[in-house]
Amino acid sequence: MLTLRSPAKVNLFLRILYRRPDGYHELASLFQTISLCDTLHFEFAEHDTLTCTDPTIPTDHTNLVLKAADLFRRKTGMKFGVRAHLEKHIPPQSGLGGGSGNAATTLWALNQLCGTPAEDIDLADWAADIGSDISFFFSHGTAYCTGRGEKLRAVNPPPSVPLYIVKPPQGLSTPEVYRNLNATQLTQRDPEHFLQEILKGKTCYFNDLEIPALKLLPSLADFKQQLYNSGFHTVTMTGSGSAFFCLGTPKPLQDSKVFFYPSSFLHRTPLNWY
Ligand code: C5P
Repeated sequence: MLTLRSPAKVNLFLRILYRRPDGYHELASLFQTISLCDTLHFEFAEHDTLTCTDPTIPTDHTNLVLKAADLFRRKTGMKFGVRAHLEKHIPPQSGLGGGSGNAATTLWALNQLCGTPAEDIDLADWAADIGSDISFFFSHGTAYCTGRGEKLRAVNPPPSVPLYIVKPPQGLSTPEVYRNLNATQLTQRDPEHFLQEILKGKTCYFNDLEIPALKLLPSLADFKQQLYNSGFHTVTMTGSGSAFFCLGTPKPLQDSKVFFYPSSFLHRTPLNWY
């Protein structure tokens, strides 16, 4: 049995550049893994099975864990079944990349269990077949990502800051947020400039997907204001939302339906997972 942590990510900045002819959006974003993690257990079995502590998560072949197992077998030509159990802590529909991290963790785990037939660079390359955000997790935990999100440039980690992950009860669907994006409302900020500033330790975070997310879920504006009122000085949405990562010293939030998690940046060393 192999047990691994499967981390969440935040986008310290997320700039959408344009809509591509294939329907995807060209982006430039600084991705960072954080200490909020699911746990995944793997062992060989006769048939593929997935169980999960969260009954709202589908455990059939639409789940990225089982898609990743299919992908690994297809690419390596190896034949085996896997039993996987997922302890879910990362909220779904949050923009925290929980499902993408689960897929990356599965590819890394199966590669270990099968005697490392592939390099991490191969796993990152294969991962782009099943999702845009999966390849990133094969970096050391900080990467400047372009293309659909699948092209990585490893960068030195920015100075770590204590951050809080906060998500309202309502989630957001990634394709719907992208569908609500109006290309004329995009910022013209230079991503390379923000990359350098953040790597120097400035916390000039932003996310171009906040405008379409607010259009889809107008209550998110009030939620964001509440977070500022509670004492945070920086409140930025991650990915396609609806979670925010926040800096500052907050007063405790009263609403028990709000997901609230004190976190920090997380990294991995080359031969280990997170
Ligand atoms: O690649 P992934 O399956 O994670 O993407 C989910 C959806 O998000 C896509 O079907 C697409 O609608 C949208 N998307 C996009 N541009 C990207 C990444 C995702 O439009 N760069």
